[in-house]
Amino acid sequence: MKKEYLYTPGPVTVPPEVLLKLAEPMYHHRTPRFKKMFGEVNTKLKTVFRTENDIITFTSSGTGAMEASVVNFLSPGDKVVTINGGKFGERWTLLAKAYGIDYNEMMIEWGCAPDPAELEKILAADPSIKAVYTELTETSTGSVFDIEAIGNVVAKTDAILVVDAVSGIGADDIHVDAWKVDVCVAGSQKAFMIPPGLGFMSVSEKAWKLADESKLPKFYFDAKKARKSIAENNTPYTPAHTLLEALNVSLSMIVEEGIDNVIARHTRLANAVREGVKALGLKLYSKSPANALTAIEFDSIDAEELRKYLKAEGIFVAGGQNDAKGKIIRVAMMGYATESDVMNALSVLERSLLKVGMNIEPGKSLAAAQKVLIG
Ligand SMILES: Cc1ncc(COP(=O)(O)O)c(C=O)c1O
Repeated sequence: MKKEYLYTPGPVTVPPEVLLKLAEPMYHHRTPRFKKMFGEVNTKLKTVFRTENDIITFTSSGTGAMEASVVNFLSPGDKVVTINGGKFGERWTLLAKAYGIDYNEMMIEWGCAPDPAELEKILAADPSIKAVYTELTETSTGSVFDIEAIGNVVAKTDAILVVDAVSGIGADDIHVDAWKVDVCVAGSQKAFMIPPGLGFMSVSEKAWKLADESKLPKFYFDAKKARKSIAENNTPYTPAHTLLEALNVSLSMIVEEGIDNVIARHTRLANAVREGVKALGLKLYSKSPANALTAIEFDSIDAEELRKYLKAEGIFVAGGQNDAKGKIIRVAMMGYATESDVMNALSVLERSLLKVGMNIEPGKSLAAAQKVLIG
């Protein structure tokens, strides 16, 4: 018998009550039932984003919402700053390139977080910059960025701040309004605990003003069109309403636990994983480790071989990308994750490390994690 556990940074385990909702019979979306449900979803989403801004939902993965945050606010030839500290920061640069946007790419060493003072200098040197694109959680390195500090820097300028919180939101804290985030994008298959297929984008008044001037081509991802529909709890095109039904259930779970408690749980679980890993003499890859996932670095073994042993015991974790391939594994405790998931992951990690030939003392990571969890 084999039991499988998803400790990947998306998709994540979907709770049983959400799965049951997904099994319900199909109904038509242009109905009062849909509008009521969508209205509930939109209210609860604001609790997670910690915003009063409109949140647009697209039927797309997170990258669709990223693309929407480019096409809705910019015009050809506009200048932006993209903060590239990994695969997903790089995606901002690739999107800017695809749309003929003039970008200043702020390169950050993998595993590090950007220095807000450096960004301040870049923005001061060029007041024509229209937007800053960055990450909350850079999933390729397991790093969290200081969005509050970045928000304070960008708010002093005419530029808007666009944050990719696809893997972070609901695990690493973000206060969209208080931290002055103009556009925040997210995706459904992470801490929202539902399958892939929905992308979210919150939009501030400062960003809506830019949307009025934007000349980049857009049709499906037109946020202004979506905003009009949202006012009536509707969507311009056929919504993925079965996914929205599932989201309504998972958002209720989040609201019931309380968003502060949800973030505190992710902090506790991440701390336990980190202490466990360090007790085995292993290194964390990130100098600014995120809650959503922990990247563990290896220099003496092939991390891909290690992943095979984890997989053989039903544990799915992510590997490294680009230069980090074979050098790291990324263990996510995201969404429907509890203390027992931490112990399970560390326990199989210990056995797998022994199989791959590492000299570790079994039980050490479990004892260290247990200390954190007991508090
Ligand atoms: C930080 C971050 N941004 C963007 C994405 C892209 O989202 P998707 O794969 O849903 O398009 C991901 C996916 O892992 C991510 O982790």
